[in-house]
Amino acid sequence: SLLATPCLSHDTPMRHERQVATRDILYYEVEIKSFQHTFFPGLEPATLVGYDGMSPGPTFIIPRGTESIVRFINNASTPNSVHLHGSYSRAPFDGWAEDVTQPGEYKDYYFPNAQAARTMWYHDHAVHITAENAYMGQAGMYLIHDPAEDALGLPSGYGVHDIPLVLSSKQYNANGTLFSTVGERISLWGDTLHVNGQPWPYLSVSPRPYRFRFLNAAVSRTFALYFVTTTSPHTNKIPFHVIASDSGLLEKPIPTSTLYLSMAERYEIVFDFSRFAGQTIELRNFPRAGGAGTETDYESTHQVMRFVVAPNDNTTSPSPSPPLPTHLRTIPYPLPTNRTHIAHRFKFHRANGKWLINNTPFSDPANRILASVPEGTVETWELENTTDGWSHPVHIHLVDFRILSRHGHGVRGVTAYERAGLKDVVWLGREEKVLVEAHYAPWEGTYMMHCHNLVHEDDDMMVAFNVTGPVG
Ligand code: C2O
Ligand code: CU
Repeated sequence: SLLATPCLSHDTPMRHERQVATRDILYYEVEIKSFQHTFFPGLEPATLVGYDGMSPGPTFIIPRGTESIVRFINNASTPNSVHLHGSYSRAPFDGWAEDVTQPGEYKDYYFPNAQAARTMWYHDHAVHITAENAYMGQAGMYLIHDPAEDALGLPSGYGVHDIPLVLSSKQYNANGTLFSTVGERISLWGDTLHVNGQPWPYLSVSPRPYRFRFLNAAVSRTFALYFVTTTSPHTNKIPFHVIASDSGLLEKPIPTSTLYLSMAERYEIVFDFSRFAGQTIELRNFPRAGGAGTETDYESTHQVMRFVVAPNDNTTSPSPSPPLPTHLRTIPYPLPTNRTHIAHRFKFHRANGKWLINNTPFSDPANRILASVPEGTVETWELENTTDGWSHPVHIHLVDFRILSRHGHGVRGVTAYERAGLKDVVWLGREEKVLVEAHYAPWEGTYMMHCHNLVHEDDDMMVAFNVTGPVG
């Protein structure tokens, strides 16, 4: 079954701990190394490379306000750089692509963990080999929790009723070993969907509500997810509530029956199994991510996983599920500026056989810093996709942004659950134009922005921006 998800909670004994002034700083060591796993019984094992020899890597569960230092020890054969995606890390600890740690070396990363409760993830960011490193397994969850979230009474207990669902997509050779094209910069859609590292798993659940934390850790595949029972027609999609996105809780639960999930996006949902005692629920994926994606689909890429719901216990009559809170939190939206003023425009396009932003590859250090923003200001940026037939999930480091609008080929507009919270990745669909507004804070520094199709990122669809000292 599922739940092989390793859990490194703050009450796990730490290997070191040190006292700084009067506060503890958490200290962890994580070793990047290869491991083998037999995905298909009877066939050869596949060789992967993961954090602590696992994929997904160990989950960090950190109380808000407790800083951490993580020593990432590179015992793999390729250079690496670690990005904690969703954290406003200081630039030297943000996984800058060229700040690589060579095999046999380590780097200590410092994380402030001062942001409100949120689902983050850590993954490789090494220049030009991010896709390969991530595909081989370098990705894991990193959660911040806080008392305000705990007080909401959401389904709780990490790995019990609060469960991560890390989606990825891979392909295997006939002998069971891993197949890859990403090193050659060819998008890999993958014919084998994994949840928490296992192909098409199932999870046994009780007839009650669960909190699921979705992360799309695939290199190139987008998803449009929905739930059905195995016995009803596939048009009977079961509604659920989205409660959080990339940057933490939404302002209120948003009901939906389809969840669009592009690479690096996180959405948390509450799914109530109490009406489905004794049944099996399937999590499915629309072909081509419901028309918003551009992937090649295969025989089984419409199936993701199953939930086997236990029968009702006859000794007690089922109690109705408690209602979800109507208000989750007050979102710290950036104070609106003059939104008709677009401070910067970025075109995601293809030219001369390369994936580029504003015609500038990351490997052009003299030109790749495309924007300068005084620290503390709020700006509206326009992101435009001019590559027909491709979508580009765009990630802006450092900030949480609000999606103001989406126009173009797509039929989605801004979804209600995109609108009800803050994000750090926005799915820029075919020929779409999106406006995002962010508060460029809390630090100065040079940060990256890129497409999170990691093959595109490696092919140089990545640039940088400067957050500069306050003016005056
Ligand atoms: Cu999730 Cu710059 O990356
Ligand atoms: Cu892209």
